[in-house]
Amino acid sequence: MSLLLKNINTDKIPQHIAVVMDGNGRWAKNNGLLRAIGHKSGVKAVREVVQACNDIGVKHLTLYTFSTENWNRPKVEVNALMELMVDSLTKELAGFMKNNVKILTIGDTEDLPKRCKRKFADVVAMTANNSGLNLIFALSYSSRKEITSAVKAIAEAVLKNEISPEEINSELIDKHLYTSAIPDPELLIRTSGELRISNFLLWQLAYSELYFTPVLWPDFKKDDLYAAVIDYQQRERRFGKTSEQIKK
Ligand code: FPP
Repeated sequence: MSLLLKNINTDKIPQHIAVVMDGNGRWAKNNGLLRAIGHKSGVKAVREVVQACNDIGVKHLTLYTFSTENWNRPKVEVNALMELMVDSLTKELAGFMKNNVKILTIGDTEDLPKRCKRKFADVVAMTANNSGLNLIFALSYSSRKEITSAVKAIAEAVLKNEISPEEINSELIDKHLYTSAIPDPELLIRTSGELRISNFLLWQLAYSELYFTPVLWPDFKKDDLYAAVIDYQQRERRFGKTSEQIKK
């Protein structure tokens, strides 16, 4: 058993971990390979974190897989990523079933190419009865767009007199987000040394602990996930209160 795994406090496992998988392109460049190969190697890291989260009992894992901004990348890279997702889902399905992993998506999945959209829909349907880890892929995702849609839906409900402006609160906004059925992440991990949130879960990350590592995504292993969880477990989450109030 990994030494880091032994040091994890099993009473303090985050329920939800969100990850910005960054650095595939740089990893490829460092190794003299095409960017698409970097993404392909990133799938191995996905397998590692899924297994690690399963092993320690994390309930939800959200992966920032494709942002709305990523549509602006060269067409050849976007196409390679879409094909990689279809191919990876096909190959990983048996493992998801064996490990009781349920697949979910957030984001504008309607924007995905037909094949990719259909593949995700199939895998979501096939794993719907699994009760272990919820593996949530953020696809064509923009947090600002998500919040804007929520605001629009609420404004329409007000216009139709279904709710009054006084009834608008955090819980109502939560209910209108893609993540309405998922608790907010306690921990956000971003790889590759970038210190940004990049339009990911802006509302949901309000009280999350942020963990940044220089490791490039394709190099991310189970032990890197355990190290992030141990770091998280050592933090004091105060939610605006004083340290003394928390320790009571
Ligand atoms: C960021 O690295 C990574 C992405 C935009 C894509 C991540 C997607 C995967 C690993 C595919 C996983 C899919 C499934 C279905 C298992 P980057 O390209 O921004 O890296 P750079 O900043 O070094 O250029």
